Amino acid sequence: MSSTEKTYSVAVLGATGLVGRTMLQVLHERHFPVRKILPLASERSRGKEVDFRGDTFVTEVPCPEVFSQADIALFSAGAGASRQWAPVAAEAGAIVIDNSSAFRMDPEVPLVVPEVNPETMFDAEGRAKKIIANPNCSTIQMVVVLKPLHDRYTIRRVVVSTYQSVTGKGKAGHDALEGELAGKVPGSFVHVHQIAFNAVPHIDVFQENDYTKEEMKMVNETRKIMCDESLSVSPTTVRIPVYGGHGESLNIEFEKDFDIEAVRELLAEAPGIIVQDDPSSNLYPMPLTSYEKDEVFVGRIRRDYWHPKTLNMWVVADNLRKGAATNAVQIAEKLVNIYEGSWS
Ligand SMILES: NC(=O)c1ccc[n+]([C@@H]2O[C@H](COP(=O)([O-])OP(=O)(O)OC[C@H]3O[C@@H](n4cnc5c(N)ncnc54)[C@H](OP(=O)(O)O)[C@@H]3O)[C@@H](O)[C@H]2O)c1
Repeated sequence: MSSTEKTYSVAVLGATGLVGRTMLQVLHERHFPVRKILPLASERSRGKEVDFRGDTFVTEVPCPEVFSQADIALFSAGAGASRQWAPVAAEAGAIVIDNSSAFRMDPEVPLVVPEVNPETMFDAEGRAKKIIANPNCSTIQMVVVLKPLHDRYTIRRVVVSTYQSVTGKGKAGHDALEGELAGKVPGSFVHVHQIAFNAVPHIDVFQENDYTKEEMKMVNETRKIMCDESLSVSPTTVRIPVYGGHGESLNIEFEKDFDIEAVRELLAEAPGIIVQDDPSSNLYPMPLTSYEKDEVFVGRIRRDYWHPKTLNMWVVADNLRKGAATNAVQIAEKLVNIYEGSWS
């Protein structure tokens, strides 16, 4: 950081959780110009210590005074805390980047993936919106891949099946698998059923239409981010006993025909994507491939055997990184680029 570079005061609400801790790590790794860090959590964790850039900071609880010290507030404390504190933080002068589902489908709030729709963060005068929503983790990694394909070939329909890490359910989700593997028998299962040695096709609560809330997030958020209400997304979301990241099997039907090599090149050149696709050497991404990485990984790219204008592929990303913390920090980076020199 040069001595003339502008620096920012950053609050992290949920700093003791899996996403919050990853946010602190990603801010450090990406050299985000932090002047002051304000780690916040609930009353339960008041006084708990968290690490940032090699130093230890004591966690406080959220209040208007603390947000008045922040330029940017990264929220990852669940929808209830976001509903309570995001308007307070925005009113106090911070720009809120919210990881929860609280504001994602609010028409006044942009739902942003920087590789896809960064322009929606700003109003007609180029000022950033006061609250910016981070999409659901399984949606983020999917739209990063869909965007360049939609621009070139026009997507009609996506059938997606997910293989989601236990860390998608936070610390409790992680600890549940660890406990089960250690032979502990819980009173009730965090993942609805036993997750060790299992796969549970049930993430979040069932809706009246028999899809789960997680599945409907993928439907609705994808349409909002891609700015296309005609896009058909047909998801099945499944929890599996891995820690590293989420995998997704995509079957994508296009309006236009495609050349498979052109698809590989298009994805390899697209921002935020790493193509790992060589069946002859058993090369394809896996959750462990993406662990602690910021990119979205794509492999198993092939034409649908029965439908010539349809593509199959496998997409992996670290849900705590690109699915949450990295995406939020990338949004903050866009803010800083825009406001460089003019943010008071
Ligand atoms: N995990 C993922 O892959 C993922 C991906 C995308 C988005 N998200 C979203 O990110 C958020 C956090 O997820 P996580 O996985 O990090 O969960 P987590 O590990 O359970 O952490 C939750 C954090 O929120 C804090 N918190 C909870 N209620 C609070 C309240 N009323 N006031 C202040 N702080 C409160 C907790 O503090 P205490 O220590 O005090 O309890 C903790 O720091 C959720 O909204 C989740 O939907 C998660």
